[in-house]
Parts: sequence; C-alpha cells; structure tokens
Amino acid sequence: METVWIAGASRGLGAALAHVVSASGCRVVLTARNASDLEALRTTLPHPENAVVVPADLAASEALSELIDRVWNESGGIQRAFFCAGLAQWSNPLTTTPGAEEQLMALNYRFPVQAAKLLAERMLDHGNGQLVAVGSIAAEFGQPESAAYGASKAALERHWEAFYAAWAHRRLRVQLMQPGVIQTTIMASALDESGAALGQNAKSHTGQSPEAVAQRLWAAAQTHRFKTYLISPTERLALLLHRWMPTLFYTLLRQRHGTA
Ligand SMILES: NC(=O)c1ccc[n+]([C@@H]2O[C@H](COP(=O)([O-])OP(=O)(O)OC[C@H]3O[C@@H](n4cnc5c(N)ncnc54)[C@H](OP(=O)(O)O)[C@@H]3O)[C@@H](O)[C@H]2O)c1
Repeated sequence: METVWIAGASRGLGAALAHVVSASGCRVVLTARNASDLEALRTTLPHPENAVVVPADLAASEALSELIDRVWNESGGIQRAFFCAGLAQWSNPLTTTPGAEEQLMALNYRFPVQAAKLLAERMLDHGNGQLVAVGSIAAEFGQPESAAYGASKAALERHWEAFYAAWAHRRLRVQLMQPGVIQTTIMASALDESGAALGQNAKSHTGQSPEAVAQRLWAAAQTHRFKTYLISPTERLALLLHRWMPTLFYTLLRQRHGTA
C-alpha cells in the first residue's frame, strides 16, 4: 500500500484531496497546525484506519528536519508528498510590511522547497517517489493586492522546475499544479499589510469547488506531466491574453482592481 503525505490537509483543497487519496486505497498522513481539525477529518475519510495525523507548523523551518523524520517514521516511509499548505494576501503592495512578505515566503516557497530536499534522497534510497507542489495561477502574472503571494508562488514554480530538471531522469516524479480560484476559506487567513489575518474582513471568495479541483489534481498526479493548470475557462482566457495581448490584459486587470 502506498503512503501519501498531505501537508496542509485540515481544510480546503488539502482536505478534499485527503478524501480522494483515502478512497483510492492509499495510506494517508495528514499534517496542518490544528490537531483537532485533522482528527475530525481523519474520522470522515473513507478509510480512517489507514490515516495518521501528524500536526505541525510547516513554516517553522528550524523544526522541519525533525518533522520529516517523524512523518517518515510514523508512516513507515512515504512514496508521495503533496504540498498543499498555503497562505494568501490581500493588501496594498506599496505598504505591505517586509514581515508580512516574509510570512508568505516562509510557507509558500521555503517550506515545500526545503521539505522536498529532505524527502528526495530518502525516497530515492527506498526506490522512488513523487513530489507535488500546489502553486497558483497567481504565479503567472502580478495582481495588485497579492504581490508577495504571487511572487512566492512564482519562486516556487522556478525552483520546482529546477528540481524537475535535476531529477527527471531518476526515479523521482516532480510535478507542479497551478489552480485557479477555489472556493475555500483561504481569504479568512489571508494577510493584511501588517501580516495579520484578515478574518472577518476578508472579501467573499468564489470559484471551483475544492472537491472538483482535488479530483483533477489526483488525476494529473497519475501522469508524468510537469505542470498542470487546474483552472476555469475564464482563467485560461486570462492566461492567453497575458501571453499574446498583454496591453489589453493589463487594461482589464487595472479595471478589475479599480486601479485604472
Ligand atoms: N483557494 C484558492 O483560491 C487558491 C487558488 C490557487 C492556489 N491555491 C493554493 O492551493 C493551496 C490550498 O489552498 P486552500 O484554498 O485549500 O487553503 P486553506 O483552505 O486556507 O487551507 C490551507 C491549509 O494549510 C494549512 N496551513 C496553513 N498554514 C500552515 C502552517 N503554517 N503550518 C501547517 N499547515 C498550515 C491549514 O491548516 P491550519 O490552519 O490548521 O494549519 C489548512 O489545512 C494553497 O497552496 C493555495 O495557495 C488556492
């Protein structure tokens, strides 16, 4: 039986993916900060007996090596890792503090990159492995209120691509998933310019359902494609405009964000 680590599993896309992975018959290791949310999720999975909860703060870089040891040992080794944990932002790019930008980089960029390095050799020592990062369509173009978020996801994409180039010829599958907007509560924990969570001040967030995106993500993880967009037709059009008609794209973007 394969073991799958989902980092950022307690809600949103990670929780939906945990259901899909558990239904597929894999053992699943669930990590996020909130232990009771993870335990509540575990009991609702199709196979709770094949799920382990390992709570941790994934942005705590000094504890990461110890965490990887724990995840590895408590599950008897993992074959696939999905880095779903992420932190969003909604703030003025001119006044956002370096502290807020640092928080975004720590979870969205440094955590998956350092965890991948710690896992890669172990996976290869034990045969093979798979490292799947969840990026964002926000990596593809800058948006005023999520400048550092987009930058953290763009940095993740470049680093992940380098991992892909470094390990593609070996027994390590490296993949990047780029979702568009997903209907989760991510904006409630999004950072304001001071680095505090928006909470009740968050704007409403609509998009694809986490269940639908999790299904698409899991299907893409069965392929050997490096990058997969998990986006809507409108978001695909935005990517095309950005690539081929940038002047029109930026005009529309400014209108949308009220900066025209
Ligand atoms: N929602 C969207 O519109 C959207 C669009 C494109 C890409 N994405 C990306 O998709 C991924 C999942 O997003 P989502 O919408 O499902 O987010 P979400 O609903 O806010 O869930 C985030 C998950 O990450 C965990 N987490 C956050 N900070 C953590 C930390 N420091 N240590 C450990 N776990 C932590 C949370 O649990 P705890 O709080 O208990 O730790 C939760 O399980 C993210 O990488 C996000 O950037 C989302």
